[in-house]
Amino acid sequence: MTSPDTAERPFALTSRPGAEWWCSAVIYQIYPRSFADSSGDGIGDLPGVTAHLDDLVDLGVDAIWLSPFQRSPQKDAGYDVADYCDVDPLFGTLADFDVMLAEAHGRGIRIIVDLVPNHSSDQHEWFQAALAAAPGSRERARYLFRDGKGTAGELPPNNWESVFGGPAWTRLVEADGTLGQWYLHLFDASQPDFDWSNEDVRELFRGVLRFWLDRGVDGFRVDVAHGLIKAAGLPDYTPPVEADSMGGDEPDVPYWGQPGVHDVYRDWHGILAAYDGDRALCAEAWRPTPDETALWVRSDEMHQAFNFPYLTTGWDAAELRAVIDESLRAFAAVGAPSTWVLSNHDVIRHASRLALTAENPQGHGIGPDSVGKPIADLGLRRARAATAVMLALPGSAYIYQGEELGLPEVVDLPDTARQDPTWFRTAGERYGRDGCRVPVPWSSSQPAYGFSATGESWLPQPSSWARLARDVQESDPESTLALYRTLLAERRSHALGTGALEWVDGFPDDVLAFRNGNVTVIANLGDASIPLPHGNVIAASEPLVGGILPADTAVWLEAAQA
Ligand code: NOJ
Repeated sequence: MTSPDTAERPFALTSRPGAEWWCSAVIYQIYPRSFADSSGDGIGDLPGVTAHLDDLVDLGVDAIWLSPFQRSPQKDAGYDVADYCDVDPLFGTLADFDVMLAEAHGRGIRIIVDLVPNHSSDQHEWFQAALAAAPGSRERARYLFRDGKGTAGELPPNNWESVFGGPAWTRLVEADGTLGQWYLHLFDASQPDFDWSNEDVRELFRGVLRFWLDRGVDGFRVDVAHGLIKAAGLPDYTPPVEADSMGGDEPDVPYWGQPGVHDVYRDWHGILAAYDGDRALCAEAWRPTPDETALWVRSDEMHQAFNFPYLTTGWDAAELRAVIDESLRAFAAVGAPSTWVLSNHDVIRHASRLALTAENPQGHGIGPDSVGKPIADLGLRRARAATAVMLALPGSAYIYQGEELGLPEVVDLPDTARQDPTWFRTAGERYGRDGCRVPVPWSSSQPAYGFSATGESWLPQPSSWARLARDVQESDPESTLALYRTLLAERRSHALGTGALEWVDGFPDDVLAFRNGNVTVIANLGDASIPLPHGNVIAASEPLVGGILPADTAVWLEAAQA
């Protein structure tokens, strides 16, 4: 099957088994509402993306992942989809999408879009029909409606908790005012879970995949890819006290990682394979280990799975070496590349996370009253070094908008500005994820730092971001932007994404050193400087002087040519 825009793509549309683009691509995550606002309403949009494509070419990325822009009441920033096959007016129109796609393809940039199959919005026509229909109806069978427990059904069907806090069940008030059945929502009450044992649901999503593939997208990032199937009988489950909020730490959860989920992706694999080029599926599957994550990328399933065990590893050389080793082994065992990632719209930005002064469970966020706030300069230094390590690893890598500017987590957002449902569902106990979603600063002297011509911004940008604006960094050879450009260009010219890793020993325990082709990477995670080995420095996360590699610094050295 071909797509309407094939003529405009400068890249091959033939399949390249073993050398597919997604094996080694650097994919830039755009969170549309915070990227660039062309309409002036304070919320980024698709024409805003189109307007900045040249900046992404200049940065050197291969592809873009767009977080949701489909029709949605925006109760969870678009992860509550009311119509999977239309663009929300906040972000533009389908025509704007087509223009953006063609313009991206014309520049050699591929586009993958977010797909949210675990749940819909409560405004989706199917959920509205389910509300209007009787218990036991075909309409209700597409979601997980159950009678309550207790003498009058007053207790929820089981004890599951929502990822965003509070119970995972909400009871219906029927049209006549009586209390009715309960429905399951692993996230917000406005995000009812589909019942994936229902063939209607499976068929709906086959159609959604084809709708976007027909338009020419290069693939999908699949939301909550570990959650679609729930254990039979919906047994009670009590999470450990220290549970990770996205399920990452917990081994046997009746709603995460159920074996039946893989049949869904085998089905989807076949749908993508019928299209020209190499279209890809990337799993957002929070699993505790690389081995379990790799189950999503077996050869007949998805193509990529975010390496969250890597993302959640601290700034520790031994732990990083172990997770890199385990990842390369586990993914290679199923014939897949590893997909490295350090930041996204759900986690504390790594320029802050790597210098937190206390534990912070994933999804809780940081705010004015948090214990263990980050040390800003140290965080940025470590983040630059961490990125230099990540971009030298073989496989694909995702970068999140704004990390190329060294943006930190915004810690001091006013409570009145917060929008993450986590904040509301925990009555302010967890700050949630707004701090990593603050709109991008493009220009230091413009209103909203160039994010929006009117100066509107759906979350306030800190005044300290004037010095982080892209235009300030453009001309500074030591800026984080300059570092990312260098790393991406050298990664490409040395083909690191398709290379192989070999550890280099002989350094202190807190140093990570490896070779990929003719590039040697040395990252000093310790407190003391070490002598810098000989070699041609092709990239360094900090300026190097005096023949030493300072603390929290990484360098790429090129072996001398024979
Ligand atoms: C994971 C998404 O990345 C997150 O932003 C969203 O809130 C949940 N899934 C629910 O869709």
